[in-house]
Amino acid sequence: MSRHSKACVIGWPIAHSRSPLIHRYWLDRYGIEGDYTKEAVKPEELEAFLGTMARRGLAGCNVTVPHKEAAYRAAVRRDAAADAVAAANTLWLERDVLCASNTDTAGFMEHLRSSSPDWDKRRRPATVLGAGGAARAIVFGLMEAGAVEIRVCNRTRKRTDELVRHFGGQVMPIEWNERERALQGCGLLVNATSLGMSGGEPLEIDLTALTEGATVADIVYAPLETELLRRARRRGLLVVDGLGMLLHQAVPGFEKWFGQRPEVTAELRALVAADIEGQL
Ligand code: ATR
Repeated sequence: MSRHSKACVIGWPIAHSRSPLIHRYWLDRYGIEGDYTKEAVKPEELEAFLGTMARRGLAGCNVTVPHKEAAYRAAVRRDAAADAVAAANTLWLERDVLCASNTDTAGFMEHLRSSSPDWDKRRRPATVLGAGGAARAIVFGLMEAGAVEIRVCNRTRKRTDELVRHFGGQVMPIEWNERERALQGCGLLVNATSLGMSGGEPLEIDLTALTEGATVADIVYAPLETELLRRARRRGLLVVDGLGMLLHQAVPGFEKWFGQRPEVTAELRALVAADIEGQL
C-alpha cells in the first residue's frame, strides 16, 4: 500500500465525473481505508494544486478536462502512453516526484481484448474516426498491438495530418467524407469522436462496407448503446461499448495509489450504467 491512501479527480468543471463512483466501489470492495474525492481546480490553480499533492496526503489523482495537457507538461516522469498522446489522465507521486500516464490506451485495449478477443485475428486494417486525444490514445494502442494498417478519418484534416506525422508508418489519412469507403476490408471500426452522444450530433456512417466478423467500438458511453453500436449489433457484427473503456481506464490509477489491481466486475458496470441512465 502506498504511504498515502487518498486520491481524487481534478477538473473544471468536475461535478459530473463518475470517477468517485468507480474508485469508491473498489475501495469498499477491497476493504481499503482510503478515500477518493473530486476537486474543482481552476486552470490557474493547477500548478499550485499539483505542487501540494503530498502535503494534502494525496497519492495521486485523475485529471480531466481541461487539465490533461498541462498535467502532462507538469510531470517530471511520463510513460510512453502519456508521451504518445502528449496528455495525462493519471498522476502519482514516486518519492515526491510527479509521474504521469495516459490510461485511455490501456483502458481501450483491455476492453477491446476482453469483448472481442479475435479483433485482429485476420490481420485486417482498422479505421479510427477522430483525431483528438482519445483517437491518439487508441491509435497508439492499436499500433502497439501490431495492427497492420490504421486508417484515420477526421473532420478537420489538419489534425489528421498531425496524427499521421506523429505516428507515421502504418497510419493512413482518409478524408472525412470518404469515411464509408475507408471501411472496405476493415476488421475494426472505432468511433473516437464525440458524435452520437445523447443530446449531441449523430454519427452518420453506413456500415455496409464492413465485412462479416468485423468489430465496431465506440468511445461514447451515454447512451450505453449508441446508434452506431445498435446498427452494428443488428448486422451481426461484434460490438465494444464505451463504458468498458471508461471502467478499464480507471484500473491503473487505483493500482498505483492503493496497491491493489482492481477488477472491472459486472456489479461495477451495472452501478455506473444505472448512474449514466439516470442522467440521460
Ligand atoms: P478528445 O480529447 O476527447 O478526443 P477532442 O480533442 O475535442 O476530444 O476531439 C473530439 C473529436 O470529435 C475530434 O476528432 C473532432 O473532430 P475535429 O478535430 O474536426 O474537431 C470530432 N468531432 C466533434 N464534433 C464533430 C462533428 N460535428 N463532426 C465530425 N467530427 C466531430
